[in-house]
Amino acid sequence: MFDSFISSFLMKSFLSYVEHLHNIVSTVLANGVTPALANSIDIALDGEPSKQLRSTVKLSDLRRSGIFFTPSHLRNALAERTISTLSSKSVVVDIACGVGDLFIGLTPKLGKGGDLSSTLELWGKQLIGHDIFMEFVNAAKLRLVLAGILQGHQSNIAIVPDLDLLFPGITARNGLLCADSIERATHIIMNPPYTKVTPPQDCTWASGKVNAAAVFVDFCVSNASNGTKLVAILPDVLRSGSNYKKWRSQLEAKAEILETECLGQFDKHADVDVFILELEVRRDSSMRDSKLWEPAADGQHFKVRGKFSVHVGAVVEYRDPHEGKTYPYLTPQNAPPWATIWGLEKQRRFSGATFTPPFVVVRRTSRKGDRYRAVPTVVDMSEPVAVENHLLVLIPHSGELGDCYELVEVLKMEETSSWLNQRISCRHLTVSALADLPWWERQ
Ligand SMILES: C[S@@+](CC[C@H](N)C(=O)[O-])C[C@H]1O[C@@H](n2cnc3c(N)ncnc32)[C@H](O)[C@@H]1O
Repeated sequence: MFDSFISSFLMKSFLSYVEHLHNIVSTVLANGVTPALANSIDIALDGEPSKQLRSTVKLSDLRRSGIFFTPSHLRNALAERTISTLSSKSVVVDIACGVGDLFIGLTPKLGKGGDLSSTLELWGKQLIGHDIFMEFVNAAKLRLVLAGILQGHQSNIAIVPDLDLLFPGITARNGLLCADSIERATHIIMNPPYTKVTPPQDCTWASGKVNAAAVFVDFCVSNASNGTKLVAILPDVLRSGSNYKKWRSQLEAKAEILETECLGQFDKHADVDVFILELEVRRDSSMRDSKLWEPAADGQHFKVRGKFSVHVGAVVEYRDPHEGKTYPYLTPQNAPPWATIWGLEKQRRFSGATFTPPFVVVRRTSRKGDRYRAVPTVVDMSEPVAVENHLLVLIPHSGELGDCYELVEVLKMEETSSWLNQRISCRHLTVSALADLPWWERQ
């Protein structure tokens, strides 16, 4: 799957990043979490490995190798669907784990010990992961230690533990030869490579080259025990492509398909639409519902969170001191409804989270019976903005202003106000209501 030039180049370039992670862990263990280190940990856990790869390896080479680490909005979507059935006895397997992003999303729900080392030991019993690159495996382990530290587990470790002993189930192996790991899983999570590969010789659902993601899912479902839950981020062609009809129907014979949800473009670098597949392995599955693979006619299959992350403005005016850097300051009073702003006179010092345009803000206060339940303003500025907490902030995953205007069109539709009226009767729009809002098909 990988040519040797890319492999050796990748390893070299990523090795220095693994050293960087090692340094952060070592400094935090020695000195505790200072505000500057907390910031470095946040960055390391949210997209930094992908940026690092892109800065040294050409995008075309990354595409060819299928190496795209899951961005946090997709990792959260997968975690949301997995977490409800997790317990401290669960064993979670990812056979193409990269630098551990999917595991990191689940750590708040894994076992908790009395201190950092016992928590990491518990996680080590619950997590099994494989990747063909040792550098990724080591990065995954160091990032899991950082996740443990960030969650406030009392540190009782003085130096970075030996990576070979830490998380013994996370190893450098070809995941497609790891049936032994799959058999132990109560949960399988995955965002596998999407490259074109030759299917295994005994493959009954395809001939010729196929998307590797289909092979990974088939391998897992064929080797997992009854009752194992699988949640996967997959290329949309597997859900919708006629070439994968046989793959879908063979999957339905081995598993109950619980839900599929379209999530839109993976990120702005990987130009591929993805969906989430949630299933439970059932050898005797007699459930056949081909509708589960299709987008619903009313567009409910695809939600706002497929295109935007939704946040609450961070400034609480009466509470937050006027300290820190000065930012343009957006409140419901200077955000004109249904309009675009290119600049703001009002400014404020603030030391909390700010938002970088383009984005859309929506007023949180909204009453049942209002003509429009969600009233937006588009912000098209070049500098970060402090936003008051009576506004919800919707940031396009694509970073594109065009997506902001598409959202405005969706919010203007009658279907949106009726859906919000049904979903929430209170006077405040919530983050989850806006994130779950269907992305209605427009004429
Ligand atoms: C799309 S990336 C996703 C990584 C990770 N699951 C995530 O969500 O961030 C796919 C990963 O699969 C790894 N990979 C490719 N073929 C593999 C194989 N046969 N066995 C194990 N890992 C593999 C790549 O090195 C890469 O890290």
